[in-house]
Amino acid sequence: MPEAWWRRAVIYEVYPRSFADGNGDGDGDLEGLLQRLPYLAELGVDGLWIAPWYPSPMADGGYDVSDFTGIHPRFGDLRDADAVIAAAHALGLRVITDLVANHTSTEHPWFRAALAAGPGSPERARYLFRDGRGPGGAAPPNNWISAFGGSAWSRVEEPDGTPGQWYLHLFAEEQADLNWSDPAVQQDFDAILRFWFDRGVDGLRIDAAPALAKAPDFRDADYGGDPRFVTIRWVDNPHWDVDAVHEVVRRFRRIADEYEDRILVAEAVVSSAERLAAYLGPEEMQTAFDFAYLKCAWDAAALRRVIDASLAQSVPIGVPPTWVTSSHDEVRLRTRFGRRTTSAAHFADGQGEPVDLELGLRRSRASALLTLALPGTAYLYQGEELGLPEVEDLPDEVITDPVFRRTGGEFRGRDGCRVPIPWSGDAPPYGFAPDGARAWLPQPEGWGGMTVETGRRDPGSMLRLVQRALMVRRERLAVDDFRWVGARPGVLEFDRGPGFTCVVNLSGAPVPIDGAREVLVASAGPTDGMLPDDAAMWLGR
Ligand code: GLC
Repeated sequence: MPEAWWRRAVIYEVYPRSFADGNGDGDGDLEGLLQRLPYLAELGVDGLWIAPWYPSPMADGGYDVSDFTGIHPRFGDLRDADAVIAAAHALGLRVITDLVANHTSTEHPWFRAALAAGPGSPERARYLFRDGRGPGGAAPPNNWISAFGGSAWSRVEEPDGTPGQWYLHLFAEEQADLNWSDPAVQQDFDAILRFWFDRGVDGLRIDAAPALAKAPDFRDADYGGDPRFVTIRWVDNPHWDVDAVHEVVRRFRRIADEYEDRILVAEAVVSSAERLAAYLGPEEMQTAFDFAYLKCAWDAAALRRVIDASLAQSVPIGVPPTWVTSSHDEVRLRTRFGRRTTSAAHFADGQGEPVDLELGLRRSRASALLTLALPGTAYLYQGEELGLPEVEDLPDEVITDPVFRRTGGEFRGRDGCRVPIPWSGDAPPYGFAPDGARAWLPQPEGWGGMTVETGRRDPGSMLRLVQRALMVRRERLAVDDFRWVGARPGVLEFDRGPGFTCVVNLSGAPVPIDGAREVLVASAGPTDGMLPDDAAMWLGR
């Protein structure tokens, strides 16, 4: 039996609005993506995950979907989507799309119908409408909070003009949570999954999976004195990681299993590796992003703990761990690793802290080699292969992330990692769009040294490093073996079978390496038999 394609796959995340603009309107689109697909094949990834491409008012970067079986007109249409899927497949690339099943845009026809139909109607039953508390129902039904700040409830006006019920939105108020106990919701999503699988999509990334069920009593949550949406700390929370989410996940899986070789990937930020493992297995998802790894500080002991915990959960149940260090939601790794606090925190906080971008680059290069040497599957967010930094000085008026508004500016949000990709040239739009076009988020001056074009030419670039690592990985890492070796403090060292060792130096000083062994890939050095600090290396025989 040939091994399933996804067990060791490296998947590249495309954020379509910021990847490549084919028509010059400043927004990335499917025509642009289509033209750039050969780049992904050349890079050597196995597939791409496309963040939401659906019609959307873009209140949350496309995660506010107003039609689950269409394409945003800014990006193209269904024929373009078919063309992207076909061209990707022809290049040997798999295609994963985003399934945003926890909520819809409040512009979705279902939500509009729910507003029009009034309390108690079957239309409202698709969502989580409740009466308010206190005199006149003027207070929200409970204390639940939104991921983006503030209450998770907004009040509607009833069709007769009176102040009415409240609806739940765990994210922005433009994203109304669906009621997954409602058979109509379940059946509609069965059809949505089949719609995309029928079009040839190889997998679905399940957005906000732990939100898909709520405790039926809608009791107040105990946030332990920290009323922020830090789900990794939440145990026994009534609106996150409630056991009933697994009924929804199993339903998705049954549909995926009607097809050959299709996968589900969980976005599930939960409190432990054990809780995460519950989303995995033959009846649930094939893979789940490892957020403990993503959030981990650049610290040898902490990384080792996280890697061990992930392997301890995944190996016995036969699922591959899924390593991820970045996404359209996170501060770019180069910036995060160039700060004093290197762990990922809540919504891009840390902005404005001093950052050493050279240090950040060295570490993100080393981190790429660590991630790609671990057993299992890995995700790479667009632009990370170029070593792009976070854009921290976007002017207030261009910021689109609802986090900025909902936290009164306390958090600037995630736009800084979504600045369009520099492809070529030395001035904006850097080949992202035809010359003369203006990217939807301003690209900084000075990105000319970080374009795909310069990366291709420079043998020492991050792009060439990632490309080489992907090639070596394909040739040498088709094994499950993993074994820590060595015991040098601050150094992560493991074998992947005989004749392959990954060494990552976080010790603060150069460390000697075995000069007799072949250096397969190195993020820096080696010089005089030493591996520099904040560097990594793959050694062969
Ligand atoms: C996920 C997405 C994020 C979005 C949220 C709500 O976390 O990655 O971008 O804001 O879900 O859909």
